[in-house]
Amino acid sequence: MAVERTLSIIKPDATERNITGKINNFFEEGGLRIAAQKRIHLTMGQAQQFYSVHKERPFFGELCDYMVSGPVVVQVLEGENAVVRNREIMGATNPAQAEEGTVRKAHGVDVQANSVHGSDSPENAAIEIAFFFSGTEIVG
Ligand code: CMP
Repeated sequence: MAVERTLSIIKPDATERNITGKINNFFEEGGLRIAAQKRIHLTMGQAQQFYSVHKERPFFGELCDYMVSGPVVVQVLEGENAVVRNREIMGATNPAQAEEGTVRKAHGVDVQANSVHGSDSPENAAIEIAFFFSGTEIVG
């Protein structure tokens, strides 16, 4: 399996509770390297564009409002099979259904405030990484 990259976002519920270090520990203990990272406050335009795949969903408005409600940490995670590995580390979208030992089981609040986002495919990872980072900002 080749080394791969995925886009991760530590969401406002986690930055608000000051647990970004605890979450990064899950990634590093899980075998992923943080190859780029920055703390930013998304604009509404960025949130709407980033989540445009969900724009027809009933929760789209709430999701975007939530994502601009506080700072986020956007990250590039790198490692073997990083897209799938990160999704294992995060756990199910709804923290109530997440397995023990996952970020969302440990720290997620509800299906919206679920602490982390991770790309769902290598194709989307490339698009999502380019949304936030230039190549020179990523050091694996
Ligand atoms: P994420 O992995 O960032 O991808 C889309 C996000 O939409 C998801 O995590 C949740 O934060 C949010 N989401 C998904 N389903 C729901 C829902 N039923 N109600 C509210 N938010 C949701």
